[in-house]
Amino acid sequence: MKADEIRETFLAYFENKGHRRVPSSPVIPQDDPTLLFTNAGMNQFKLALLGKEKRDYSRATSCQKCIRASGKHNDLEEVGRTARHHTFFEMLGNFSFGDYFKKEAIEYAWEFMTEVLRLPTQRLWISVYKDDDQAYAIWNSRIGVPAERIVRLGDVQQGDEENFWSMGDTGPCGPCSEILFDQGEEMSCGPHCGIGKCNCDRYLELWNLVFVQFDRSPDGNLTPLPRPSIDTGMGLERIAAVMQKVQSNFQTDLFRPIIAEMEEIVRRGYSSGPEGMPFRVIADHVRALTFALADGALPSNEGRGYVIRRILRRACRFGRTLGMTEPFLYRLVGPVVDIMARPYPELKEKREYVALVIKTEEERFGETLDQGLELFRKAVQVVQASGQKTIPGREAFRLYDTYGFPLDLTVDMAEEIGLQVDLEGFHEEMKLQKQRAKQASRFREEENQWTILSEGPHSRFIGYDHERATVVIRRMRMATDYIDLVLDQTPFYAEAGGQVGDRGELRGEGIEIEVTDTFRSADAVVHRGKLLKGNIREAKGSLTAQIDSQRRSATARNHTATHLLQAVLRQVLGEHVRQSGSLVAPDRLRFDFTHFSPLSPKELERVEASVNAKIREDIPVSTFETSLEEARRMGALAFFGEKYGERVRLVKIGKESLELCGGTHVKATGQIGQFRLVSESGISAGIRRIEAVTLFSTPRSTG
Ligand code: SER
Repeated sequence: MKADEIRETFLAYFENKGHRRVPSSPVIPQDDPTLLFTNAGMNQFKLALLGKEKRDYSRATSCQKCIRASGKHNDLEEVGRTARHHTFFEMLGNFSFGDYFKKEAIEYAWEFMTEVLRLPTQRLWISVYKDDDQAYAIWNSRIGVPAERIVRLGDVQQGDEENFWSMGDTGPCGPCSEILFDQGEEMSCGPHCGIGKCNCDRYLELWNLVFVQFDRSPDGNLTPLPRPSIDTGMGLERIAAVMQKVQSNFQTDLFRPIIAEMEEIVRRGYSSGPEGMPFRVIADHVRALTFALADGALPSNEGRGYVIRRILRRACRFGRTLGMTEPFLYRLVGPVVDIMARPYPELKEKREYVALVIKTEEERFGETLDQGLELFRKAVQVVQASGQKTIPGREAFRLYDTYGFPLDLTVDMAEEIGLQVDLEGFHEEMKLQKQRAKQASRFREEENQWTILSEGPHSRFIGYDHERATVVIRRMRMATDYIDLVLDQTPFYAEAGGQVGDRGELRGEGIEIEVTDTFRSADAVVHRGKLLKGNIREAKGSLTAQIDSQRRSATARNHTATHLLQAVLRQVLGEHVRQSGSLVAPDRLRFDFTHFSPLSPKELERVEASVNAKIREDIPVSTFETSLEEARRMGALAFFGEKYGERVRLVKIGKESLELCGGTHVKATGQIGQFRLVSESGISAGIRRIEAVTLFSTPRSTG
């Protein structure tokens, strides 16, 4: 039976029993601050289960998208090691809000398992909470499950929460009873194998029936509910594995196409043994990422966004073990969407976007991943050589701070080779870092003296109107791996106001120079590059300077988008929003601004939609010069980190935006194409950061 069929059969069965079919809620909880991610089918019914909300139905059934990668229910580290754990999974469930209780819940579950799915009864085992005699009696006397296949587990008083389910530290909870499937002797982990005794894959927990009887308050107290309820959950991936007679969720039709695509990409075959772990981790993680991003999460440095980043970086690291040095994860978004778009149509329209966000993050982490792995290897060598078992917190912190390795990634890698990480030391380093924290300023050393090649004024910028010009070299300096040139005039934009410097080329008689960066140094515009041909000292006469126009245009799109973004943020969040830093590059933009709390998914959605609406309006962009005083009078926005002269340049986007800016822009907003948010995060108290991209034409990024 295909997973799609199982899902449908389940929902239809309970509909038949008078349950309302309720669609899955997003994996990002809309109104529950106690959760980073939806972790169970019951989340959206929390208040109904507690009797605090009345609905026009008292029975419901759903198939819920869940993520368990943080908080009380966190399976992140198990993923890939077992055949059954996931960060993202689907939970089939039936719910009673003060309607039926244990007897019906058990009868329905048994009927569905044995009569609808026709699972062999002798392979089904039952667990109940240690003193839940009522549930025991229903299973044993009413249903007829023999005593030797019913196990009593858990003891909350002793801190053993086995068979006692709670959503989190607060909320609905109660004793539960599970249906397990015996996968057979050959899956056993040895003589101590057994339900509640080991963690192996032999007895597969399929379905959890929670008898919701209490509301747990923050101090841990359990208040009995006036009308007990039912909350059940069955992992679709697990029941699919059983129905498809495979021993691992990763062999079901929910995963096979993803793994097949990976086999293509990495040119290796998957095996279900330990060596297949990277495949399993990656296949799992790309599903979690796809669903989380599609539902509005964004990678960032804190909270939910950081969990996303951790999942992604973990997947990248495992990708390296399969030889993937280039971004690859984003190429798996396609198969995930193909498998899941039928039950979750919202994925379809987000396909390109999700792939792009993943690719951007992969590129960013990829830049430092190898160096980080090298540092890790060295740290391990030192630890092992000294006969120790703990990687110093300082090294884990360096991996985090310099190479972007989340702590649990380092812990994960350490555990794989039987080492630990000094967590206390790590947190100590983190504290010190915060104390030291000062924005590192870009520093360019002037290690070589200039050689004057011609006299006269220099560095006149003519690049607003010209992308190509005839120029004369005024001075030069050479280093081992680059050459710097100052010209009489230049079409090259020197890095300023967050906009990166231009690239391009200089050509003359027998001379060819590739310009790789342009920046200001004192009063000069410095063109840094590589001498490809010729001898500069002998250069006579003029050269032709040509900027990389495509790169300039891409940068201009991002720069104008940054202005629109600021204008929209001020509309959506308020006038307190002010730029406090930015980076405008050809492939992305980053905008730091004053604001005191994270943006909600709704706000992010509005910001993105509103920038796009202004792009579609194709508003003309104009520039003009005026006095600083006049600009202030006109209410132009200035970036308070910048120093301005008496005459200033203003960039105006219709009525939407007026900013002091020396950068290069598109002629009308329509040229930007499309605007997409990539991440939102906090960088220091009261300062948020948004990263975004613009898409000129729709990229084929799911490859
Ligand atoms: N809430 C319970 C669980 O997640 C049953 O749905 O296991």
